[in-house]
Amino acid sequence: MLEPEPNDATPFLPERRSLDALRKAAAECKGCHLWRNATQTVFGEGLKRSRAMFVGEQPGDREDRAGRPFVGPAGRELDRALEKVGIDRDEVYLTNVVKHFKFEERGKRRLHKTPKRFEIQACRPWLDEELRVVKPEVLVLLGATAAKGLLGAGFRVSRERGQPIESDLAPLVVATIHPSAILRAPDDEARYAEREAFARDLAIVAEELVARA
Ligand code: URA
Ligand code: SF4
Repeated sequence: MLEPEPNDATPFLPERRSLDALRKAAAECKGCHLWRNATQTVFGEGLKRSRAMFVGEQPGDREDRAGRPFVGPAGRELDRALEKVGIDRDEVYLTNVVKHFKFEERGKRRLHKTPKRFEIQACRPWLDEELRVVKPEVLVLLGATAAKGLLGAGFRVSRERGQPIESDLAPLVVATIHPSAILRAPDDEARYAEREAFARDLAIVAEELVARA
């Protein structure tokens, strides 16, 4: 009989919990079914001393191929907003709630599929370790998947974006949209508005980093 697929990354955690050791161990993770179809694990990226951590949903097509988070179109939007508010990408830690790309094949294209709650939970040990090692002062949740995954299913990004959220995850927790929402805007005007609103939320993060320095 087939063994049931596990849904927990915990057995794959390394003994030493440095970022390097975690990254190496995560590359071998089979804590849920998502490793099967993806190219590789996309672990978080950034320095241990990073004061801010940004958490997205999961790697996209480009990230899956590159093995690095936020290097595709959504990453470009994120880079653009970070630059606008004066946050250096190299000074922050970027990661995702799910470390393997979940997709559906449509001909030659691989279409993003939103991860399910059990997949987010299975992958959670990696994020918990990243939080434990980096201990960010400011935690930025990008989009509903990350925000609901970490703050509960009742959390509404639209209602609470850009405001401090009560949470034990970090001294300051802020949620905003996922940068891919900018790409999905129906027209130029909407895209411009989304971009501006996203940058406004990140400006609050930038101000907090200065105020807390
Ligand atoms: N979207 C995400 O949520 N994370 C990435 O790394 C890339 C796109
Ligand atoms: Fe492991 Fe997370 Fe990949 Fe699932 S998505 S196999 S838990 S790294």
